[in-house]
Amino acid sequence: MFRQLILVLKGIGVFYNDLKFFIENSNIDHSNNTKAKLLSTLIASYHIVEKGLSMPNRRLGFGKEAVMALSAKCSLYAQKYGDNNDQFRYAISILKEYDDLHKQYNFTLDVDLQKSISDLIEKYNIPAARQNQMTKDEFFAYTESSFDKFSVSRHSTRHFGGSIETAKIIESLDLAKNAPSACNKQITKSYIITKSEMIKEILDMQQGNRGFGHLIDKLIVITTQYCGCTRYSDRFYPFVDAGIYTMNILYALHFHKIGAIPLVWLSTRERDERLRDIIGANKDEIPCLIVGVGDIADSVICAHSPRKSIKETVVVC
Ligand SMILES: Cc1cc2nc3c(=O)[nH]c(=O)nc-3n(C[C@H](O)[C@H](O)[C@H](O)COP(=O)(O)O)c2cc1C
Repeated sequence: MFRQLILVLKGIGVFYNDLKFFIENSNIDHSNNTKAKLLSTLIASYHIVEKGLSMPNRRLGFGKEAVMALSAKCSLYAQKYGDNNDQFRYAISILKEYDDLHKQYNFTLDVDLQKSISDLIEKYNIPAARQNQMTKDEFFAYTESSFDKFSVSRHSTRHFGGSIETAKIIESLDLAKNAPSACNKQITKSYIITKSEMIKEILDMQQGNRGFGHLIDKLIVITTQYCGCTRYSDRFYPFVDAGIYTMNILYALHFHKIGAIPLVWLSTRERDERLRDIIGANKDEIPCLIVGVGDIADSVICAHSPRKSIKETVVVC
């Protein structure tokens, strides 16, 4: 009992510091009050539009609010930090791609939307982006190539066109289990969801699959656990392990020519409990991420999702 009390008191300090750090440094209040926060929301904003541009059954005039929001963020970013940033410039090229697409089909955009886009396009004069369109054979052309080619060829897909045998997914998970984990404790687990009513309920809760969720054939739910943590300072390892494991799953699925899309799990106590109930997970398992899988369509468009340059992401000390 006394030991328990000491642990709780120590934990309050640790988690209070996490909470403080999170509130100060996340963008949970949407203040966009640092360059890094504004750039992150700008990227998230252009990603919504590039997803729209690469979506199956794309309808013209889609995403008016998202495009308006993107234009507003571009203007704000340029005003505060200038235009010398690759991700900012890509955001403008997405607006140009959106504009070109509608012009190509003689589709008249709402006046306010057209003005917000045209002002930025004319000001910066950046060529249009182009989402990657490819055949199924091209998508899987490098599955047996050297790692540099294989790694570059993996993309998330939202263009699913058929079913994949559960045995094939198990084969991929058997390969993915080679992922390293802290002290080799292997506290991560995968659940393959095959029943359509379960898939639908999980995707309804997930929320990030609009426009393509109905095409997903099966789901993999990835869970982790705290059981391996012996100190408060271990508290992030279960999630680090889950991330490394998931990346191996994505590569293993690609190797086996299975289309995949990682889907964020928006954790709340109620949602976690319901998901555990649906998949039959133990109470101590923490759902981390979902991967939608399926056979891919004969022709796919992949969102370009350009990466930041090495100058921005690597520091040699
Ligand atoms: C943790 C995580 C959560 C994601 N959640 C979603 C999601 O909810 N919906 C979606 O369409 N894509 C989602 N994605 C896919 C990303 O948009 C995609 O990985 C990113 O744009 C990079 O593209 P690539 O996977 O083709 O390299 C997620 C990816 C990760 C890693």
